[in-house]
Amino acid sequence: MALKQLIEQRTQSAFEKAGIEPAFPIRLQWSGKPEFGDMQINGVMAAAKAARCNPRELASQVLEQLELDDIADKLEIAGPGFINIHLASSALASAATSMAADPHLGVPKTTEPQSVVVDYSAPNLAKEMHVGHLRSTIIGDAMCRILEFRGDRVIRQNHIGDWGTQFGMLIAELDEQFSQQEIDQGISLSDLEAFYRQAKQHFDQDADFADRARRKVVELQSGDTQCLLLWQRFIEASLEHAESIYRKLNVTLTRADAMGESAYNEDLQPLVAELVEKGIAERDQGALVVKLQELADKEGNASVAIIQKADGGYLYATTDLAALRYRASRLKADRCLYFIDARQSLHMKQVFAIARRAGWVGEQLELTHCAFGTMMGADGKPFKTRSGETIKLAQLLDEAVQRAADLVQQKNPELDAQQRDLVAQRVGIGAVKYADLSKARTNDYRFNWDSMLSFEGNTAPYLLYAVTRIHSLFRKAGLLAAPAEAQIQVEHQAEKDLVLCLERFAEVLDQVSQSAMPHELCAYLYDLAGRFTNFYENCPVLRSDVPQPQRESRLALADLTRRTLQTGLELLGIDCLEFM
Ligand code: ARG
Repeated sequence: MALKQLIEQRTQSAFEKAGIEPAFPIRLQWSGKPEFGDMQINGVMAAAKAARCNPRELASQVLEQLELDDIADKLEIAGPGFINIHLASSALASAATSMAADPHLGVPKTTEPQSVVVDYSAPNLAKEMHVGHLRSTIIGDAMCRILEFRGDRVIRQNHIGDWGTQFGMLIAELDEQFSQQEIDQGISLSDLEAFYRQAKQHFDQDADFADRARRKVVELQSGDTQCLLLWQRFIEASLEHAESIYRKLNVTLTRADAMGESAYNEDLQPLVAELVEKGIAERDQGALVVKLQELADKEGNASVAIIQKADGGYLYATTDLAALRYRASRLKADRCLYFIDARQSLHMKQVFAIARRAGWVGEQLELTHCAFGTMMGADGKPFKTRSGETIKLAQLLDEAVQRAADLVQQKNPELDAQQRDLVAQRVGIGAVKYADLSKARTNDYRFNWDSMLSFEGNTAPYLLYAVTRIHSLFRKAGLLAAPAEAQIQVEHQAEKDLVLCLERFAEVLDQVSQSAMPHELCAYLYDLAGRFTNFYENCPVLRSDVPQPQRESRLALADLTRRTLQTGLELLGIDCLEFM
C-alpha cells in the first residue's frame, strides 16, 4: 500500500478514536514547505469548529491516538491545529523499494472499474485532417491510456464526420474522375485536399455538375446502391488518410473505433419522433426544436436546439443525441468524455440536457465535455499558413520530424542515419504532442517550434533526454537493469526529495483520471526529472568510494525514476529512447 494511503487509514482511525464524526474529512496533504514536515493533516480545524471545541486540544487528542511510530520520526501540532508529519527515512526507503518491485509502479488498479466512452479526434472526412483536430486527438488518446492503465474499460469512439451535403459534390467528382472498374477495386486518393478543391471548383463553375452533385445528395440519402458504393469508397480513402496520421502520431485509434455520424442515420427519425411524443420537441416555424429553460440566457430566454429542419433534414445535434443514446444503452457507459473544442460548448450542453430530459441518460452516468482552447500560431493568431490556408496535419508532422533531425544532427553528429531517424521521429512527434499536453487544455494554446523543441524547461526533449541519461548510467555500469534484490536507502536530502516525488505517481494518475487534465501529469514528470537531476548531481553512484549497498540503492532509485518517467510519457502517448 502506498505510504499516503496507509497514513490516511491510520489518521481516519485516530479521528474516530478522538470522537470526531466520520463525516469530517481528514484532509491529508503533502506539505509544500519542509518546515511543515512532509505531510499535514488539515481536517481537525473544521471538526473542532463544528464541535465548538478548541482545535489545538482536539489536535492533541488525535495525536494521542495516531499510531505512526513505524512511519514517522516526529509528529507536531502547528498553528491553529494542523498536524505535521515528518516521515522516517526508513518508511520512505521501504515504500520506494516496494514500488520498485511492483511492475505497475505502486499504482493500484481501481477498485471500481468504469466503462468510459472517450469521444475524440472525430475529423470530417470530406477534407484532410488539419490542425484543428490535433488537440482532440492527442489529449483524448492520452486520457484513454491513463484510464486503461488504472483499470477502467475504455471504449474509444471516433465520431467522424462522414455524412452531409458536401459528400454529394465529392461523389459527383469521383464519378467524373474514376471508371467503374477502378471504383470496384477501391480507390486511393493521394491528395485528398486537392481532390476536394477540384470538386469545389467544379461545383462553383459548372452548373451541370452542381445539379448532379445535388442529385447525388438525394440519392445518397435515399439509399441508392451505386451512390452508396461511391460514398463508401471515398470514406475508405479518407479514413486511410486519417489512420496514416494516427500511426505517425502514435495514436491508438483503429478502424474498429470509427463510429461515424452515418452509423446513426437509421436512428434519427425514431429519435425525433420519440422527442415529439414525450412532449420535449415542438414545432417552431416549421422546424422541430427543443427549448431548454435550464440553459436560458441572462434575459431568461430559453436556449433553443434545432433537431430537425423544416425541410426534414437532421442536424449535428440530432446525430449527437443518437450517439449518446447508443453509448448509454448499448455501450453501457458509466462515464462519457467528449474531447471537443470549447466553441462547441453550448452544443454539448444542449445535447446532454435533452438526453437527460428524454431519460436516455440516467443520473449516475457522468457526461463531461472536456473542452479545449484554440491552437494559435506563434504570433497569437489562429494557426494558418502564410497564404491563410489551414495547415495540413501531415505536413506539420513531417516538419516536426525534420526539425528534430536537424537538431539531433547538431547535438549528436556521431549517430548513424538509422539511429538519427529513430531519434528524430520520437523527438519530433513527442515535442508536438507534449507541447499540447503540458498546457492546461482549457486555454488557447500557441504553437511554437522553438519552445517545443527546446532541451530546457517542461518539454519532450528535456524529459526524453532525462530518460536517456539514466540508460547511459546503466550502460556505464555495465548493467541492463537495477539489481533485483536491491534495497533502496534514503539518506541524502536529494534522495528523500526524489522518493517523496516518486510516491506521488499513483495519486497524480488518480487525479488526472478524474480531471481529464493531462498537463497535471506533465507537471509531475517535469518535477520528477528535476529532482532526479538534483539527486544525480549530489549523490554519486558509480564512484569507486561508494560502498556496494549504497551503489545498489542509488542504481535502484535511478531505475525506478526511469521507469516512472517512461511509464508517464508512454501514458501520454510518447515513446522513449535509450540514447539520443
Ligand atoms: N466532426 C466534428 C468537428 O470536426 C467533431 C465531432 C466531435 N464529437 C462529437 N460527438 N460531436 O467539428
